[in-house]
Amino acid sequence: MTVYFIGAGPGDPELLTLKGLKLIQRCPLILYAGSLVPEEILAEARDDAEVLDTASLNLDEIIAHIERAHANGQDVARVHSGDPSIYGAIGEQIRRLEALGIDYQVVPGVTSTSASAAALGRELTLSGISQTVIMTRYAGKTPMPERENLVSLAQHGATLAIHLGVTRLHKIVDDLVPFYGADCPVAVCYRVGWPDEQHITGTLSDIVAQVRAAKITRTALILVGHVLGSADFRDSYLYDAEQAHVYRPKFKTDAPRKVKRAAPATPSSTTRQGDA
Ligand SMILES: C[S@@+](CC[C@H](N)C(=O)[O-])C[C@H]1O[C@@H](n2cnc3c(N)ncnc32)[C@H](O)[C@@H]1O
Repeated sequence: MTVYFIGAGPGDPELLTLKGLKLIQRCPLILYAGSLVPEEILAEARDDAEVLDTASLNLDEIIAHIERAHANGQDVARVHSGDPSIYGAIGEQIRRLEALGIDYQVVPGVTSTSASAAALGRELTLSGISQTVIMTRYAGKTPMPERENLVSLAQHGATLAIHLGVTRLHKIVDDLVPFYGADCPVAVCYRVGWPDEQHITGTLSDIVAQVRAAKITRTALILVGHVLGSADFRDSYLYDAEQAHVYRPKFKTDAPRKVKRAAPATPSSTTRQGDA
């Protein structure tokens, strides 16, 4: 028996991984975070599966359901929004499972940062502008460690992906203007992948008024950085004709290598160095 922590992606059911879908289709118990996981993916569950929304449950209650499945030898699909490793609260569940001797695996998902960048049609790492993305949150009930407060992080000038902070956008702007400048581009991406998705784009000087006018108060990712606005950046070295690398030697044939179609890829054969 295994508990599978599955990242469901940001909201669009088609952004669930094939691995996550197959597990949802076969697990007899599905525990899903109802507030942010699209119900469409649960329609893929077996007819006899038990499907429980954990939004109203506490940690002990969730673990009790898992222990019951464990006693019955039933696999569990534990479905979280986005990628479960980012503010997914899987750490405390994993700690309990390890103490109970229950096996688990984590299946990654599309995080809201990647989904928001995709929705905007932007790259978050541009040569000469920023090569670092800081995924962070604004302090709420969960305090931030002092060394990770936004002012400290802002000193790097990196691209920022700020979670759980839209109701404190005015404070975020106050913290960032001294480091990024009032004209720095900002995007507030609301419920990306859901039918009511919205993106509000502006600068640190006008984003607060725009977001207030749109009445966005939850489930929004705040992206900040000059990568969002600039067309004035260097081409990367990856496709630079003057730069040879192991997959593109200096002297090469005119046509790109044709790929011979093979049997479906195994998980370990899907990544290669030197390509993006
Ligand atoms: C508890 S965190 C979960 C993050 C999630 N595990 C992920 O990988 O994106 C919730 C916050 O993530 C961001 N978020 C999650 N889903 C989103 C979506 N569909 N659109 C925009 N932001 C989203 C928002 O900042 C939201 O307040």
